[in-house]
Amino acid sequence: MKDMHCDIQNILFSKTVISAKIKSLGRTITKDYVDKDLTIISLMTGSLLFTADLIREINIPISLYTITVSSYNGGKVSSGTLNIKDSLPNCKGKDVLIVDDILDTGLTLSSLKTFIEEFEPSSVKTCVLLNKKIERTNMLHPDYFGFEIDKEFVVGYGLDFNGIYRNLPYVGILKN
Ligand code: IMP
Ligand code: MG
Repeated sequence: MKDMHCDIQNILFSKTVISAKIKSLGRTITKDYVDKDLTIISLMTGSLLFTADLIREINIPISLYTITVSSYNGGKVSSGTLNIKDSLPNCKGKDVLIVDDILDTGLTLSSLKTFIEEFEPSSVKTCVLLNKKIERTNMLHPDYFGFEIDKEFVVGYGLDFNGIYRNLPYVGILKN
């Protein structure tokens, strides 16, 4: 039997630490959107676990949609172009919060944000679990994030390498 935990060099954020952070993010988002019409657009598949946990810490009515976009095509480096594989929900007049697993180059979220803004939402903000500490040419800073990490490739808690490791309950770094 292959144990996927053996492929991990070290754990950056444990299940317990992630859970506490998401509770706090949920409280902040609840407070910020209390009188608004919150529409969450969750990017599949990386933010599946994060979104599932986060929405249960948000105590106001929300609408939830998932869309699939890709810029990585399975490897460790962004291909530089964004493919949106689903149609968007109606965003006109809504307070849209885009939820993703990680902000790396920012290409995914900045392209998607610009695209959504054309549909006249009331507001568009971004929320990621992990924010990589890198210089970004597109100047995108997440409105909400869980943790800052160095420029390294991480897996687990929804994040994959070549489609696997998403079901690790923690975020960690792969062995070389
Ligand atoms: P960006 O467009 O470069 O910001 O990349 C964002 C997307 O790339 C995320 O939604 C992830 O799916 C993927 N990604 C970026 N960095 C990592 C990583 O360290 N591990 C796994 N996936 C990553
Ligand atoms: Mg992703």
